[in-house]
Amino acid sequence: MTEIRKVGVVGAGLMGSGIAQVSAAAGYDTIVREVEQGLLDRGMAGIRKTLDRAVQKEKLGAADRDSTMARLHPTLELADLVECDLVIEAITENLGAKHALFGELGGLCAAETIFASNTSSLSITELAAETDRPERFVGLHFFSPVPVMPLVEVVRCGQTADDTFEAAFAFAGSLGKSPIACGDNTGFVVNRLLVPYMLDAIRAYESGVASIPDIDKGLRLGCGYPMGPFTLGDFVGLDTLYHITGIMYDEYKEARFASPPLLRRMYLAGYHGRKTGKGFYDYSGDEPVVSSFVL
Ligand code: 3HC
Repeated sequence: MTEIRKVGVVGAGLMGSGIAQVSAAAGYDTIVREVEQGLLDRGMAGIRKTLDRAVQKEKLGAADRDSTMARLHPTLELADLVECDLVIEAITENLGAKHALFGELGGLCAAETIFASNTSSLSITELAAETDRPERFVGLHFFSPVPVMPLVEVVRCGQTADDTFEAAFAFAGSLGKSPIACGDNTGFVVNRLLVPYMLDAIRAYESGVASIPDIDKGLRLGCGYPMGPFTLGDFVGLDTLYHITGIMYDEYKEARFASPPLLRRMYLAGYHGRKTGKGFYDYSGDEPVVSSFVL
């Protein structure tokens, strides 16, 4: 089986920085690439903050934090990924941008390098087909917040070679995660079930079933979910959720995957959840309050 020693992560946003953190924490030399210095700095600062918090809570030693940080190599140059055995893409959920990235990577990396995508909804088959190595391509779908959530969906498509899948599955396990094997069905396992649930919560609110905090409270206290569907939507990002609905609806043509009008309007207005300070809730005060957009 292919041995993974050096890992590349492309994209240092919410998902990419989390993936880079767990990769470095597991002992891999990890190159983190972003397109802009500001985004790179923000991603690295986020990792540092999470590790510092773990040290303060005495869940991590200061020496382990420092060695994890030392294994992280931030860069703006794609060429710095040339020696990686595995490159994980965690950029924006846009097919054209991902095709362009993997095209460039194909010209840089060795033929044996495994390419993986953290896409939550695009087709792994379609991404792999455009690369120079469809048999060395796999989906590695992490969950937010990456350092906390134990699941990784490892997605194989018709072109994926056994060795590629096994190496990616073993890699996810070596991060301390619990991988599951998924076929290349849009939304894989989790988003196929989770996305209609979040959209149904928005539809329930649109139909006047209950207030946003009460729907959240219902699911938290009635089902033991750690957060209700609106809090979760704000946490995942309403832009991300909106993009996923478009891709899932295109694939399945089922109304349950279509964006409710409210989600589309919030997306268009820039109410993207925690990342923009406002979504279903407004996060500008000490405690979140229902956002003026949905009052
Ligand atoms: N980064 C790193 N660590 C974090 C974190 C973050 N962003 N947020 C919380 N944590 C850690 C805390 O430090 C704490 O660690 P400790 O137990 O070692 O002290 C632990 O998580 C619990 O945190 P808190 O006590 O502050 O708060 P909660 O008990 O509310 O837990 C939560 C926070 C883990 C985010 C929990 O609310 C939860 O499980 N929420 C649901 C998350 C979820 O469903 N994620 C999946 C989203 S879907 C997805 O990602 C797919 C995509 O394709 C859309």
